[in-house]
This record gives sequence, C-alpha cells and structure tokens, in this order.
Amino acid sequence: TAAATAAKKRYPGEAKGFVEEMRFVAMKLHTRDQAKEGEKEAEGPPMAKWEPSVDGYLRFLVDSKLVFETLEGIVERPAFPEYAEFRNTGLERSESLAKDLEWFKEQGHTIPEPSSPGVTYANYLQELSEKDPQAFICHFYNIYFAHTAGGRMIGKKVAEKILNKKELEFYKWNGELSPLLQNVRDKLNRVAEVVLLLLLLITLNVLMSFCVHLCCPSFWFLTKTLCFHQSWTREEKNHCLEETEKSFKFSGDILRLILS
Ligand code: HEM
Repeated sequence: TAAATAAKKRYPGEAKGFVEEMRFVAMKLHTRDQAKEGEKEAEGPPMAKWEPSVDGYLRFLVDSKLVFETLEGIVERPAFPEYAEFRNTGLERSESLAKDLEWFKEQGHTIPEPSSPGVTYANYLQELSEKDPQAFICHFYNIYFAHTAGGRMIGKKVAEKILNKKELEFYKWNGELSPLLQNVRDKLNRVAEVVLLLLLLITLNVLMSFCVHLCCPSFWFLTKTLCFHQSWTREEKNHCLEETEKSFKFSGDILRLILS
C-alpha cells in the first residue's frame, strides 16, 4: 500500500526489523574507503596506509577493554530490565582482552593506564545506561557489531604490520560468530518490537481459557513478563537511531589511538 511504501522510505530497513534500521544508519556514517555503503568523506589516511605502533595499539586495546568491561557490568547489574537479555551473549570481549594484555606484558611491554578517549566513553555509557535505555542500546549494538566487522579487519591489518600476524584473543569467539550475532540481533529486535508477540499470546490465552476451561499459568506468566517489556514508540526508535553519530565519534576517538 501507499502508506507502507511511505513508511519504508522514511525508515529504511524497517520492514526487516529494528536492527536493520540501526545498521542502515551506521553504514552511512562510514567513509567510502571503510565500507562500500559508506557516505562520509575520509578524514585521516585510509587504513591501507596506516602506520600503527605497538604502543598506540596497546592504548587502543586498554581503552577498548575499559569500554567492554563497562558494557558487561551494565548488563550484569541492569538499571532497566531489558538489559538483562544481553547477558552472556557470547560476544563479551573483556576477558579475551585481559588475556591479550597479559600476553603483551609477557613480551616485555608495559601496559598503560586507560586514557582519555576510553575513560570518557566508559563514563558516558554508564550515565546513559541509567537514564536513557534507547540511546544506550544504540551504543551497545554499534560497539559489539562494529568490532565483529571493521574491528576484525583492523585487527588483521595491524597484526600483519606490527605483530608478525599473531591473532589476538580479542578477535576470537567461542564457536561460530554468525549465530552469536544473529541471536543478539533477534534480542535487539524483540526489545524494540514485542507488541505482535504480546497480542498473539493474549489471543492464545483467551482461546485456551475457552477451549480447555482452564488457564495455562505459564502462558499468563509469559504474557505478564512481556507486558513489562513495552515496545518502543517510533519516537523512541528515532531517538535510538540519532545516537549512532555519537557512537561513531566516541569509538572513532578510541580507534585513532592505534595511530597515536
Ligand atoms: C559494518 C568497516 C568503523 C559500526 C562494517 C562493514 C565494514 C566496516 C566493511 C561491513 C561489514 C559487512 O556488512 O560485511 C569499518 C572500518 C572502520 C569502521 C574499516 C574504521 C576504520 C566503525 C565504527 C562504528 C562501526 C567506528 C561504530 C561505532 C559498524 C556497524 C556495522 C559495520 C554497526 C554493521 C555490522 C553488521 O551488520 O553486522 N564496518 N568500520 N564501524 N560497522 Fe564499521
């Protein structure tokens, strides 16, 4: 219908679910040399010309660890119930980063303290998570997914140039990565749009009450649980999408540490 077409135009990716909307906004914020869907002008040198140093890369790893620890702490002690879904997704990175830093130490390198880009982002995430779940979820998505896409490419390039191709734990996941990602996509989509499922469950409950003359307690329990997880309004979704630029800004500052 015309209305559906108009909605599709206004919110690209909407038909496929909210994660696709977040992805669309994120891809446009890449530069063209970073990703073919990118639309931004390049600021620094293209990745092919990067001259990383071990010290700079260590600063990047230390600040990344602080950011992942912060995210993992936030979902462990959720200020909003919807965060609890994102515990133990298999995407967690702070333990693997701790192992990598241990390895660098054994190689005789001094591990620096977290620097300003990482501390600033970690503080921002902590505050945001307590007052603005939509914006926080945007960062959560971008940080984990950026790392599995561009982050891995960067890791490979840097390892070729300065680590004798040593593959760090930061870039290894337990088992296949793509089902882990899909599981998190499904959860993100569910946080943003749970209304249909709720309607379905209520209908099922009513039908069951009629047919069996008996309520299934576990169905009612599920329905009640879902009622707490209100789906996001269009305004809340837009608010989440608008946060993407900040996520690029903060993560970009941490990425640039590699070249410092
Ligand atoms: C996806 C490269 C920085 C967020 C991608 C993809 C590439 C890429 C090639 C496409 C992957 C695919 O669809 O197969 C890069 C490079 C970067 C960079 C080279 C920096 C040098 C960032 C930053 C963010 C970000 C700073 C945000 C914090 C994302 C997201 C996706 C993505 C959310 C979608 C991943 C998915 O759909 O699974 N990136 N990126 N990227 N990037 Fe980046």
